[in-house]
Formats: sequence, structure tokens, C-alpha cells
Amino acid sequence: MREQWNTKLGFLLAAIGSAVGLGNIWRFPYIAAQNGGGAFLLPYFFAIITAGIPILILEYTLGKTYRAGAPVTFARMKKKFEWLGWLQVMVAFVITVYYFAIVVWVVSYIGFSATQAWGSDPTGFFVQYLGLTNSALELGGIQTHLIIPFLLVWAISAFILYRGVSKGIELACKICLPVLLVMIAILVIRGITLPGAAAGLEYMFAPNWAALAKPSVWVAAYGQIFFSLSIAFAIMISYSSYLPRETDVVNSAFITATANHGFEVFAGIGVFSIMGYMAYTQNVAVEEIAKAGVGLAFMTFPAAISSLPAFNGFFGICFFGALFTAGITSLISIMQAVIAGIQDKFEVSHKKAVTTVIIPAFLISILFITGAGLNILDIVDAFANNIGIVGAGLIEVILVGWFFDTEKLRQEANSFSNFSIGRWWVYSLKFVTVVVLGIMVFLNTKDYLMNGYGGYASSNVAVFGWGTMLVVAIVATILSTMKGKDGYADLNKVSRKEVA
Ligand code: ALA
Repeated sequence: MREQWNTKLGFLLAAIGSAVGLGNIWRFPYIAAQNGGGAFLLPYFFAIITAGIPILILEYTLGKTYRAGAPVTFARMKKKFEWLGWLQVMVAFVITVYYFAIVVWVVSYIGFSATQAWGSDPTGFFVQYLGLTNSALELGGIQTHLIIPFLLVWAISAFILYRGVSKGIELACKICLPVLLVMIAILVIRGITLPGAAAGLEYMFAPNWAALAKPSVWVAAYGQIFFSLSIAFAIMISYSSYLPRETDVVNSAFITATANHGFEVFAGIGVFSIMGYMAYTQNVAVEEIAKAGVGLAFMTFPAAISSLPAFNGFFGICFFGALFTAGITSLISIMQAVIAGIQDKFEVSHKKAVTTVIIPAFLISILFITGAGLNILDIVDAFANNIGIVGAGLIEVILVGWFFDTEKLRQEANSFSNFSIGRWWVYSLKFVTVVVLGIMVFLNTKDYLMNGYGGYASSNVAVFGWGTMLVVAIVATILSTMKGKDGYADLNKVSRKEVA
């Protein structure tokens, strides 16, 4: 019989654990900073209302109604939709392998924090730590000092995943989330009491209306919402498939989104305060500090940790410890999305599905502990997010909004909910989200085709950007045409007990 969460709270903690991740602490501040600081917040909230919450309600409704990972859920809606489920699963698989690498670095940095091993040059130290080569195609060999943290993160993830949904994932989230909250609270309290914090916060909150006219700011806001809420890459469908059908999904979606974005802004207050402090100590504008981009966590923060007046090691462990707890609960959710996809179509045991996913993921993730790791990660992350997730989200809203009875789904969502969602939900999915995502996919594709990405050689972008996307689409097609267990697409074949 299909596993279920022990309690609704357990499900909510797992869903929040998935949503709250590296995206909240590491990605949000630098994406906000790159897109005008305070100016970013308006499109960000607009994207939560028009896409984030409506899609989350949709995915929860699909999961608890069709009771399977994304591929079988879509197949049960309409057999032809199955490909979309595999596309999302494959995007999740790609994200797994590089997300993994960041968690590995974080583990090393928890250790480095104790003595501030990065010394007076955190940037140089990080480059040396990675054994960074000049190109994504120049692997430079496995960095042997990364092997132990690499195996450690794999062991922890495999342990949680083999234990299953309720005994593994639910329990891990129950332990990690409170720890995370305490560590972030320490970060925020320390941050806002530092000199210069006010300038950092002003940068985060002061609106810059001119930036709103730039399409790129809107594109970045929608991209951040999808990544941060874990929507459109199979996760929330798989998590809600372990819920009883009577669950109030509307209220669950609002709770998840509020907790995730509340946490994101809360962590942002800590991070921007510390950026303000860095700007103060170096006597530069906050903007200069914010330019660090992806290096924020591993270059700027170590510098900030070293320059604190006291408790440097403790503070460093809190920061990287927060990244670790947030990262691991998201990482297992991304892997579980892939595992559920395999388990439900081929009806293999949970353990067999975990092994089937872990072996290739383990082998591919080795790429990221070579000297080319950061460069490959940077390219794959951009394409997986801006083309993969956004494209899969667009196909999802088109198929569900235009080729399925969305009104029926609205009634299903409302039938067990305390407050009903109105027709605005259908309109958001059918029109607003389709148009916005359509524009995003178009702009991103055009930009990458014309300008490449991030200054990398076109061969690098061709292999790791476009190449990855092509492999994702091909494997999704193969998996969707493979023969599954008889009747997997038929909801009526699910034993009645399960659909309670
Ligand atoms: N939602 C996860 C994050 O924000 C993937 O990192």
C-alpha cells in the first residue's frame, strides 16, 4: 500500500523543508541584489500571488487526487500528459546532482568556519578549494579533499531516503527545521546589530521604481518563485501524493507559501544587514558587496565572518549549519520526486526505486567535485532553472489550463477546504501564468541563443546548457514511452483503500 505522511503537520513540515532551501539563503539575496534590491520585492510578491500560490494549489490537488509521482499523476489525467511528468522528473534529476555539490561545499565550510581556515583571502581560498579550472570542459581531475564530504552527504541522503517518506523524510524535516530557524534567528539578530546594517536593509527594502520597467527583473522574480517554492519540477506533486484525499490543500498551499517566503525575507534581513556591515567596513556602497553573485555564501560571507568582533567561529558554524539543514531537506525532496516517478510507473519496491535513482545520480555528481565543478554548476543551474523549470511550468499550465477540466480541479480543491478558491485561480493559471511564463521562456531562450551565458565559451554552453536540456527531453521521451506496470495510468486500478 502507498505510504502516507504520519500527520498533516508532518506533510507541511516536509513541504516547507523542501521549499526552504539554498534558494532562500544563498540564491534569494544575490538574485534580489542583482535585480535592483528593493525593486525586486514588488515583482516577487506579484509572482507569488499570480503563479506561486495558484500552481502550488494545483500541484497539491493533483498529487492528493491522483496519488502518484508526477509522471503517473499526469498519465492518470490523460495518458498523453505523461511525458510532462517525466520532463519535470528529469529536470529534478539534473537539479539533484548540482544541488548536491553545493551541500558538499557547505559541509566543508562548516569545518573551515571553526578556525576561519580561509584566512585573509576567502575568494582565493575558495578557488583553490575547488581546484577551479578555466573552463567547464577542462575537468582537472577529482579534488581528493572533497571526497569525504561528498561521501558523507551521499550517506546522509541515502539513509534518509531508504527509510522512506514518513520514517525518513518526515522525521528529518521535524529535526532540521527548528534547528534551521534558531540558526537563522542568530544570523538575523547578529546582522541587524552590526554597524552599517541599516544601509543594507535600505538597499533590500527601498523601492527603485525604474527597475520595474525592465523585463529581466520580472523574469528573475518568477524564476526565483518557482525554484524557491519547489514547483514545476515534480516535487510538490510527489509529496502531496502521500496525503489522504480529504486534505485541505488550499490552506496547506497558503501555509507553505507564507512560511517559505516569510523565511526567505527573514533570512534576507540577516544577509543584507551583513552586506551593509561589509560595505561599512570597506567603505564602499552596498551595491558593490552585493555584486558577488553566486560567490556570496562562499566568498563574501567568510570575509564577513572573519571581520566580526567576536564569536567568529560560532557565527560561521551557524551560517553554514543553516545552509546545510536547509539544503539537505530540499535535496531529499528533489530526489524523492525522481524516486516516486520510477516507483509508481514501474511498480518496483521503494528500496529498488531509491537504488535505481541513487546510482546514476552518484556517478554524475562526481563531475561536480572535479576542478570544473563550479563552472559546470553555474551553466547547468542557469539552464535548469530558466529553461527547464520555467519551460516545464509553462507546459504544465497550458496542458492543465487548456486541455483539462480545470473547473473540476477547482471543485476538488474546494471540497475539503475551509475557504474556497474562486474563479481567479482558473484565470491565473489559464491566462496570467501562461502569458508570463511564455514571455519568460521566449526571452531566456533568445538571450541564451544570442548572447550565450555568463561569458562562457560557446562550446561550454552547448555541452552543459543546451546539451543537458536535450538529454532531459530525450530521456523523458524514452521513459514516457516505456511500458510500465499494467494499468498504472488507471486511477480505478488503485485499490479503494488507498483513495479512501
Ligand atoms: N526550493 C528549494 C530551494 O529553495 C529547491 O532551494
